[in-house]
Amino acid sequence: MIGNCKTFKINSITDTRGSLSFIESSDDFPFEFKRLYYLYNVPSCEVRGAHAHKKLEQILVCLNGSVDVILFDGKDKTKITLSSPDLGLYVCPMIWRDLHNFKNDAVLAVIASEHYDETDYIRDINEFIKLAKHID
Ligand code: TYD
Repeated sequence: MIGNCKTFKINSITDTRGSLSFIESSDDFPFEFKRLYYLYNVPSCEVRGAHAHKKLEQILVCLNGSVDVILFDGKDKTKITLSSPDLGLYVCPMIWRDLHNFKNDAVLAVIASEHYDETDYIRDINEFIKLAKHID
């Protein structure tokens, strides 16, 4: 499960005018992007996320500053630090994520496969662990 989540280098073009990075849905990320949202002005002591999604696929990109992302699939846990606008993190469905340590005016962009749907959220960790067990 957690092995299906991966960081990847975002296509970037740099010249004397600066850098431009872009993500398109592709064989690697075969979902159409329907939504972009971003977190910013997050105090470094706050934790965001603290939920999983039943079906939603997402790509996380830290556009400024840095953020620690803790991923948990009900069994294994991993921490990934996003600190560059040319580093993406693909998060598959049924992964619990906690977002910590928003530092240096962090701006975390999230590209999502679906429109906002509260019924797709699992916000109770115990419910998540129970549901994740059934996937094995
Ligand atoms: P919340 O899920 O608590 O943010 P996070 O889990 O990323 O820390 O969302 C905060 C509020 O924003 C909540 O009332 C739901 C709302 N919201 C939308 O209306 N549309 C969206 O696309 C998202 C991501 C959240």
